[in-house]
Amino acid sequence: MNLPSRVKLVEVGPRDGLQNEKQAVPAAVKIELVQRLQAAGLKEIEVTSFVSPKWVPQMADNAEVMAGIARASGVRYSVLTPNLQGFEAALNSKPDEIVVFGAASEAFSRKNINCSIAESIERFAPVVQAARAAGIYVRGAMSCTVGCPYEGEVAPERVGYLAGLMKGIGVQHVGVADTIGVGTPIKVQRAIEATLKHYDINDVSGHFHDTYGQALANTLISLQMGVWQFDTSIAGLGGCPYAKGATGNVASEDVVYLLHGMGIETGIDLDQLIDAGAFISDFLQRKSGSRVATAMLNKRNAG
Ligand code: HMG
Ligand code: MG
Repeated sequence: MNLPSRVKLVEVGPRDGLQNEKQAVPAAVKIELVQRLQAAGLKEIEVTSFVSPKWVPQMADNAEVMAGIARASGVRYSVLTPNLQGFEAALNSKPDEIVVFGAASEAFSRKNINCSIAESIERFAPVVQAARAAGIYVRGAMSCTVGCPYEGEVAPERVGYLAGLMKGIGVQHVGVADTIGVGTPIKVQRAIEATLKHYDINDVSGHFHDTYGQALANTLISLQMGVWQFDTSIAGLGGCPYAKGATGNVASEDVVYLLHGMGIETGIDLDQLIDAGAFISDFLQRKSGSRVATAMLNKRNAG
């Protein structure tokens, strides 16, 4: 097996995780979560999104959260920007990276960002141009690369089409997202293969929601393909407000356990990561979505 020796995890809990929360999460709690995540060794954190507060009220405190973080050297902070208005608002917060987000399915594009795939690319193009001119790295998220809540199964050709459009406007890296967590390994492999027609393996990451419990298997097949960057969410938090019923990303704790168990380095301290997960789960008064966190906390309590 040809597995990478080191993997980079992008922690998306503060954004993808919390965006779906109905209860108010104060900016101070989000800030403390980010602090704890970086203390655990995360080197890239997706902090928030500069989207319409009417669409996603939980992210309305974006600037406050970005301003409140004590930035650690060597840590990169990314934010979602769907259009120029969001990008311009994000600029004051000095993100290291911005994320434009499109979909491989037309219906999801319309539900999530209120425009067609082609229109979304027209909106992203000036954002990408402005970000790159300002020296800000540009990542693209590609939603619904295996399945769509409105259209069902999504063909790999659709993923290739979107990846080609992203490449054409200068997006530097793309994430292959299973937004609703329906993917299984061969389908995910095909979505990644379609992406690799346009992007180098070093510029592709996996973003797997775990709704059907397949995310670790999908992570493993991606690793076997040489993918070494993954988005994960602390305590398995989250879901997308425009993908009803979809649960959070694969839990960061579970992926770290998988990787360390296979001798793959992450630079992350699993114990401190568990503490960060316990902090946010306690705040939300919810059991962690991470099997590893649950097992390790049970063991700590028993010991
Ligand atoms: P729209 O309504 O089509 O935008 O929304 P518009 O340009 O027609 O403007 C309408 C109003 O929105 C105006 O305000 C604008 O100022 C305002 P009004 O005059 O009515 O008071 N507006 C904004 N306000 C703040 N920030 C902005 C912004 N843009 C316009 N950036 C828009 C288009 C994209 C803004 C909207 O559809 C939106 O905010 N959608 C939210 C999408 C979202 O955040 N989804 C979740 C994140 S994606 C995800 O989770 C998937 C991912 O994890 C990968 C995966 O798992 O698949 C990334
Ligand atoms: Mg997501």
